[in-house]
Amino acid sequence: MAEIITVANRKGGVGKTTTTLNLAYSLKELGKKVFVIDLDPQANLTRCFGIENANELTETIGHLLMAELEEENYLAKGYILSYDGIDFIPSSIYLSVTETQMKAETGSERILSSILEPIREQYDYILIDTSPSLNILTINALCASDSVLITADTQLFAIVGISELLKTIQKIKKRVNASLKVKGILLTMCDNRTNLSKLLTQQVEEMYQGKVEVFQTKIPKTVKVGESIYSGQSIKKYAKGSSVDIAYDNLAKEICYE
Ligand SMILES: Nc1ncnc2c1ncn2[C@@H]1O[C@H](COP(=O)(O)OP(=O)(O)OP(=O)(O)O)[C@@H](O)[C@H]1O
Ligand SMILES: [Mg+2]
Repeated sequence: MAEIITVANRKGGVGKTTTTLNLAYSLKELGKKVFVIDLDPQANLTRCFGIENANELTETIGHLLMAELEEENYLAKGYILSYDGIDFIPSSIYLSVTETQMKAETGSERILSSILEPIREQYDYILIDTSPSLNILTINALCASDSVLITADTQLFAIVGISELLKTIQKIKKRVNASLKVKGILLTMCDNRTNLSKLLTQQVEEMYQGKVEVFQTKIPKTVKVGESIYSGQSIKKYAKGSSVDIAYDNLAKEICYE
């Protein structure tokens, strides 16, 4: 039975998509069966799974959520693609249409849960990449998940974002998903050469010690990430063995063997 992990932070550009993508590859390398859902209409992750023309697709997560919302007959299998041995459901701009529709319906926070329930037994891990907002889509992801992995870069505002997200997680636990856990805080874009980065890393560790797990693995800041995303590839394909590739492998090990 898969563990479902949502990658989230309300702040934009803190490594959510990069982490979802590269963690999926590293988990796969450990022999895990991985399924990835792009739950962001920006569809950045979808591009890294070899899809250039996401907005022309008619079988995306937006369409699948809409089918469940409208109680249509559908086969979830028909929406699942496979790339480099990783299963995934792409996103497109159509997901914002679905989001508007979901906002208008009561009880729509469990739509993604209903879709994943029959699928989850086929995988070891299901990773969900979310957009930088706590909209109904992210709430759906948090309702469907066992845990949430919070990415934060070592900038002050990303750290403020963590406490906001933790408050929302408390509310979600109370209202809709009592078993939701915080998997951990992952510090991304760490630059050990700058004092500020070092200081903020230390601050996060002290602030959450004994309360929320902060992953031992820190993701280093390197231009290779930008280059790999630009070329639509995972770091494992673009720069295998690089420091950031090894970091994501270590994160996968922390997650599998915690
Ligand atoms: N470890 C890293 N080192 C250097 N640059 C990075 C690293 N991780 C991510 N980046 C860069 O930071 C930018 C944002 O990363 P990413 O798209 O993963 O963030 P995000 O949280 O998914 O953003 P959004 O909120 O817009 O969805 C990208 O340009 C990416 O290339
Ligand atoms: Mg993203």
